[in-house]
Amino acid sequence: MKIQDIVQRFEAEYGEGEVRLFSAAGRVNLIGEHIDYCGGPVFPAALNLRCVVAARKRNDNIIRLRATTIDHKVELDINKLDSYRDLPWGDYQAGVAYTMQQLGYKVVGCDLLYDADVPFGSGLSSSASIEVATAMTLATFSAEAGGKGVDKVELAVLSQKSENEYNGVNCGIMDQFASSMGKKENAILLNCKTLDYQYVPLKLGDYALVIANCNKKRALGESKYNERRAETEEALAALKKELPEITCLADVTPTMFEAKKHVLSGKVLDRARHVVYECQRVKDSVAALSAGQIERFGELLNRSHMSLKDLYEVTGRELDALSGAARKHPACIGSRMTGAGFGGCTVSLVKKDCVEDFIKTVDAAYTAETGLKASFYNTTIEDGAQELR
Ligand code: GLA
Repeated sequence: MKIQDIVQRFEAEYGEGEVRLFSAAGRVNLIGEHIDYCGGPVFPAALNLRCVVAARKRNDNIIRLRATTIDHKVELDINKLDSYRDLPWGDYQAGVAYTMQQLGYKVVGCDLLYDADVPFGSGLSSSASIEVATAMTLATFSAEAGGKGVDKVELAVLSQKSENEYNGVNCGIMDQFASSMGKKENAILLNCKTLDYQYVPLKLGDYALVIANCNKKRALGESKYNERRAETEEALAALKKELPEITCLADVTPTMFEAKKHVLSGKVLDRARHVVYECQRVKDSVAALSAGQIERFGELLNRSHMSLKDLYEVTGRELDALSGAARKHPACIGSRMTGAGFGGCTVSLVKKDCVEDFIKTVDAAYTAETGLKASFYNTTIEDGAQELR
């Protein structure tokens, strides 16, 4: 929605007066998949697909929540924030408010209206964008009430904590970090073990990023996600007996892995192999980009997808069909799934002047193979969380 329409809608819901606007980003992860919770390096970027919150403080202890696209009306009592875990909508916002209160922020009563254009369940971090936009709003109001204020790294960390502990989703830190800390025209090289980060200008030469949604409803995503996490923890425990100095799987280099992999077997061996080599691919990708070797970057994207398909088993027929169709197009030098997988989006590197033909061809090939219709987004890389006005 356009900003003036959001403001109008806010005033229609809550009455005329001052309207503040905050926003946080959806993200695309370029490479480094399913390794954030293993302490690995990831390489996401914040998108122009966003969650915008229109907001106004109240003089009581109530937080009201509404959205432009769904009909739910939720009221949270800030003295009972622990009790909203089962809401069908509003539980992410309640979790953030609760977590912030626990961490010493002054959470104040306010009216909030959410307008999100990050497609739900698409692997582009719709939940993280809601959490971080909420945290940004409440932290700004907290500072104005004399409490703790905005520190965008802390907002990311508390949003992840909230999703883990309040909503029971065991995600890593990547999505919230990108949503909060993103920078226009840059990707973030984030070390998920230390939270050290560095911005890398996304100079792709003659190539553009094309994000496509396979539009398959994510089934069993959450339980499979937790299963993968458990398998990587099993691998870590076994490798630690041989390599006592490691504290996470990302500490294991390919050379160390090849020397000690005999202690692993079956699926656990496959999962660990993915993690170890995906960490390496992230480092190689950043080196390739810095050297202007875009084709090498594309090749690493392809290898990442194959590893997620064969070793980590998180792609599925639709994501394989969509990235496969992309790879077959002569103007595409790399394509992979992005996010948790089991449905959602692919990201492809495509020659700029061929994007239109790429979309037409891939769209048709994907439908022919799966019977589903893909969506293609017109995306740019933007800043993370911010107050708009
Ligand atoms: C989801 C999680 C992230 C990360 C990715 C996979 O998006 O929220 O923390 O684990 O999956 O890379």
